[in-house]
Formats: sequence, structure tokens, C-alpha cells
Amino acid sequence: MTRWLVTGAAGMLGRDLTALLAARGEEFTALTRADLDITDGAAAASAVSAVKPDVVVNCAAWTAVDAAEENEAEALAINGHGPANLAAACAGLGAVLVHPSTDYVFHGDATVPYAEDAAPAPAGAYGRTKLAGEQAVLAALPNASYVVRTAWLYGAHGKNFVKTMLRLARSDVAPGVVADQYGQPTWTADVAAKIYDLVGSAAPAGIYHATSSGQTTWFGLAEEIFRLHHAMENRETTRARLTPRPLTTAEYPTPAKRPAYSVLGHAAWPAAGIAPIGDWKDALHRAFPVVADA
Ligand SMILES: NC(=O)c1ccc[n+]([C@@H]2O[C@H](COP(=O)([O-])OP(=O)(O)OC[C@H]3O[C@@H](n4cnc5c(N)ncnc54)[C@H](OP(=O)(O)O)[C@@H]3O)[C@@H](O)[C@H]2O)c1
Repeated sequence: MTRWLVTGAAGMLGRDLTALLAARGEEFTALTRADLDITDGAAAASAVSAVKPDVVVNCAAWTAVDAAEENEAEALAINGHGPANLAAACAGLGAVLVHPSTDYVFHGDATVPYAEDAAPAPAGAYGRTKLAGEQAVLAALPNASYVVRTAWLYGAHGKNFVKTMLRLARSDVAPGVVADQYGQPTWTADVAAKIYDLVGSAAPAGIYHATSSGQTTWFGLAEEIFRLHHAMENRETTRARLTPRPLTTAEYPTPAKRPAYSVLGHAAWPAAGIAPIGDWKDALHRAFPVVADA
């Protein structure tokens, strides 16, 4: 049986991954930030050598994209040095390291999906720090690491766009939502399942893109959330027509530049004999009852 160690286990992805491991009867140790601060190299080494895992999944991260602009050194400590600490600990023990990363390593000015080997060019601090983590992991464990890039995550736990839109729909508020940024809304449970598949496979080490297939905008996603909400509530009043309004990026300024085009390609999955995550709308429909209930 595979022995798993999950860091950042109280985060949105960490909670869905540990739930999946529990459901599959796997042997795992879940460490929250309070249990292990991955920026502490000695603590990381001693946690890994105490558990003796076959695989470490690093769900710990600084994910506050805007705040990273003002706090890049702190974000780098978590997103860059933390994974380097875990990679060094795994190398000493012969363990595999799975390291989730992000579409923000790309600039976001492409017009076709970014392949796994497309040249990264982050447009902001968060992307720079996540790229540093990817590079540290791949350099330390070239044959024993999986960098799993994901994007536009939502799930039952933690703050995320789907939960925010649901809250607004429930309060009869029609928000303005950006309609000129393209990406792939992705359910944390689907990412957890792909991590599980990867670890159980003979897939070559390297970079994988765990995002839903297809593409939409934040506005397209919001519209679908409102539609699902109204259907679930079985609304037949005029309020059932309450729907988000489209905005441009210029109308919704943020401290960190958002990629205009964050669509990732999935060629590495079939090459490794694993099916990619399916269409974003199907995923949202599967996830909706779970997220709405959370
Ligand atoms: N959320 C997205 O839309 C998104 C998109 C693309 C990629 N990703 C990537 O997906 C992965 C999972 O993201 P997520 O959304 O699950 O993040 P999350 O909900 O913010 O969870 C991250 C967890 O890491 C913990 N953490 C922070 N600093 C730590 C440290 N020094 N040591 C140990 N734990 C620490 C956090 O604890 P505290 O809460 O106590 O700080 C939190 O529990 C990350 O690698 C992220 O970069 C996320």
C-alpha cells in the first residue's frame, strides 16, 4: 500500500485530497500549517523522515494573488522555498513529490492552450513564486516529481468564486463579472482524483495540467452558477431572471494583473494513459450539489 503525506491539509485542495484518500482506504498523514510549516527546512525534513511516505503531496501554498504583489518575499518563502524543502526531504528518502502549481506561471496572452512544455512567463508576483517552486521541485527530483498545474479552483471548502456567486444568488444580488478573461473552472475533487491516478500510474515524472476541459469566462461561469441555483430553487418568479452583468477587465481593476487567456492543454494525460478532467460545465454540474450544501 502507498503511504501518503499531505501538507497544507486544511486548504481547499488538501481537504478534498484527504477526503478522497480516506474514501479509498489509503494510509495517509495529513499535516496542516499548524502541524508543519513547510518554510522550516528542518521541520520539513523531520516530518518526512518520521512518516516515511512513498509520496508527499504539497497542498500548502500562498494563494492570495493580489497580496503577493506587496509581500513577494513571504509568498516566495511558502511557494518557492517550501517546496524546495520538501523536495530535499523526499530526495533523501526516495519519496515521490506531487506539487500543485498554477496557470499564473504563464503570461496569459496566448490564443491557443498552453502546452505543458510552453515557456513560462509570469505576469506577477504570485506566478513568479509558484514558478520558483516548480523549478526547485523539478530540479531536485527530475525522475520522482509531478508538477500538477491547475487553475480557477472551486470546491466545498474555503473561499472560492462558486461559493461567492452562490451567496450573491441566494441574496438576490446580480454582480458585475469580468467577461474578457478566459480559463477553465476546475473542481478540487477532480484535481484530487487526477493526483491519485498519477501516483497510481507509471506516468513519467514531469508537468501535468489538471484543469477542466473546454473554456469559459468568469462571466460565463457566473451565469451557469446562477442558472443552477435558480433551477435548484425551482424559481418561477421574476427573481429567477436575476443574472450577472458582463464587465471588462478595465472595469474591474485588481492589484495583480489577471491573465486574459489561461487555458491549459492536456496532452500529457493521454500520453501517460490517464484521461484528462472532462468539460468544465459537466464538472460544475457534478460539483454543484456538494458545494451548495457545504
Ligand atoms: N485556488 C485557486 O484558484 C488555485 C488556482 C491555481 C492553482 N492553485 C494551486 O493549488 C494549490 C492548492 O490551492 P488551494 O486553493 O487549496 O489553497 P488554499 O485553500 O489557500 O490552501 C493552502 C493551505 O496552505 C496552508 N499554508 C500556507 N502557508 C503554509 C506554510 N508555510 N506551511 C504549511 N501550510 C501552509 C494554508 O494555511 P492557512 O490558511 O492557515 O494560511 C492553507 O491551509 C496551491 O498550490 C495553489 O497555488 C490554486
